Order: sequence, then C-alpha cells, then structure tokens
Amino acid sequence: MTYQFILTETHKNVGLVRFNRPKELNALNSVLMEELIAAVEAFDQDPAIGCLVITGDERAFAAGADIREMAGASTVEMLTRDAISRWDRLRKIRKPAIAAVSGYCLGGGNELAMACDMIVASETARFGQPEINIGVMPGAGGTQRLTRAVGKALAMEIVLNGRMLTAEEALRFGLVNRVAPVEVYLDEALALAQSIAGRAPIAIRLAKEAVNNAFETYLADGLADERRAFYVLFSTEDQKEGMAAFVEKRKAEWQGK
Ligand code: CAA
Repeated sequence: MTYQFILTETHKNVGLVRFNRPKELNALNSVLMEELIAAVEAFDQDPAIGCLVITGDERAFAAGADIREMAGASTVEMLTRDAISRWDRLRKIRKPAIAAVSGYCLGGGNELAMACDMIVASETARFGQPEINIGVMPGAGGTQRLTRAVGKALAMEIVLNGRMLTAEEALRFGLVNRVAPVEVYLDEALALAQSIAGRAPIAIRLAKEAVNNAFETYLADGLADERRAFYVLFSTEDQKEGMAAFVEKRKAEWQGK
C-alpha cells in the first residue's frame, strides 16, 4: 500500500508508521490522518505484528492539526465534518502503540502522542498545546489526557499559556516513558516495541485494555474488570505455558492462544 503523507515499515514483529510531510512539520491534515488510521488498523489486524510505533522525523513529530486546512471553516462545517471523531478509531487499536517523538510535538501532534500507550522522546522533543496562540483550544484530547498525565496545575499552564515542555520536563512530569539522544530515540522505541511484541499476545491485549480502563471507570469497576480479565487469561495456552516455563526454569514459547 502506498500513501501520500505517511510511510510504513515492519521491523520484525513491529509495525512502524512515519509521518512524511517534513516541510509542513508533519502537520496533521485530513488525508494524513485517514492514512495513519488505515495503516494502524492494518497493523492491528496483522497477526505477525505485536506492537506499533508511530513517529515523525527529527525536526517534528507533528506540529499539530493543519492550520491552513481549517483556518476558514465555520462551526457548522467543523461540526458537520467532525474530523476529530475519526480519532476514536485510534482508541480501538488493540495492540500497544508507542509514539517515538523528536522535535515539535504540538497541538494535535501532542494529542496523538498521548493517544498512544507510551512515549519515547528524543532529547530535542518539545511538547505543547499552543492552540491558545491561534485563538482556539485543544480539541482532540489535550485538555483531558494531558491533565491526567501531568496534573491540573501544569496542564493549565500548558493549555492556557502555551507553555512548552522540554523532553526532560516531560519525563519528570510523567508524560513520557524515557528520553534518549536524538540519534537513537527511534531505535529505543523500536527495541521497547519489540520487547513488548515478544510477549504473550492475549495477556498484552487484556492488560492494555485494563490500564486504559483506569481512566474511564470508577475504581471499583476497574478493579472488577481487571480481576475478570486476569481470570479469563487462565483459559489461554499461553498462561499454562508461561507458568510451566517459570516452574521448569526455561523460556516460555508464546502461541497467542
Ligand atoms: N499547520 C499547518 N502548517 C504548519 C503547522 C500547522 N500546525 N505548523 C507548521 N506549519 C508549516 C508552516 O506554515 C511552515 O510552512 P511554510 O514554509 O510553507 O510557511 C512550515 O510548516 C515550517 O514552519 P515554520 O516556518 O513556522 O517553522 P519554525 O521553526 O519557525 O516554527 C513552530 C515551528 C513553532 C512549530 C511553528 O511552525 C508553529 O507555531 N506551528 C503551529 C503550531 C500550532 O499552533 N499547533 C496547533 C495546531 S491546532 C490543533 O492542533 C488543534 C487540535 O487540537 C486538533
């Protein structure tokens, strides 16, 4: 499959999507978003793939939604198009997704990185929600996911005053998992993805769902769902194999069954 604004690759059992609009700092126009969603859905369906990585280039992960594309739109057009609702399809991806972020990670770009399950950043990464500077506000999860990640006080500063976080700050405040030199951040993300992709697939899927549930439910409901998922895993061959391998002091062979 060839795309206009993204590139896809496979690295062993990891599917990689690279944004490919470098001159526009990978601004997320509607074609790019459709292509991204199609590519991640295809990787999600591919049994040979266990984890996804989404990345931009060294200068920018993505500098936000495409301002030129929406500058002249009316409320009615925005509501009718409802372009952001397609992001819901990203939430339905069952395999873990890691954002590998270098350079600008702003607005919709930051919202996209936060919609992934983990973020690996280069030392040059800059995270922000600068929509306030163009007379609007975040519209694809920025006020919700950022607040959950870094807390209300800092989220207010980022959203209301356009503060950008350095990679080190983002690490300190819990927005990203790890920071690596720009030369190796993508390799780090791919290595993390390959490590996850090598684990028991059904347990990975239910565990991802359970962690994400922590943001969607009351504690009692989240605990009950987690407990059920844990019990369900005892009907998988991978649970029998994983525990037998531990007892027999050998490496487990996962079947995804
Ligand atoms: N949309 C469209 N084009 C963009 C863009 C965006 N979000 N961000 C950058 N570009 C384009 C620039 O217009 C420029 O194009 P030309 O060369 O044709 O003029 C090119 O990318 C390079 O950008 P700059 O010359 O501005 O590069 P810089 O290094 O001087 O500045 C920057 C970099 C600080 C990131 C600056 O480009 C910038 O502020 N970009 C906008 C960031 C922003 O406001 N993002 C939020 C968008 S709204 C949103 O995302 C809504 C939502 O929640 C869904």
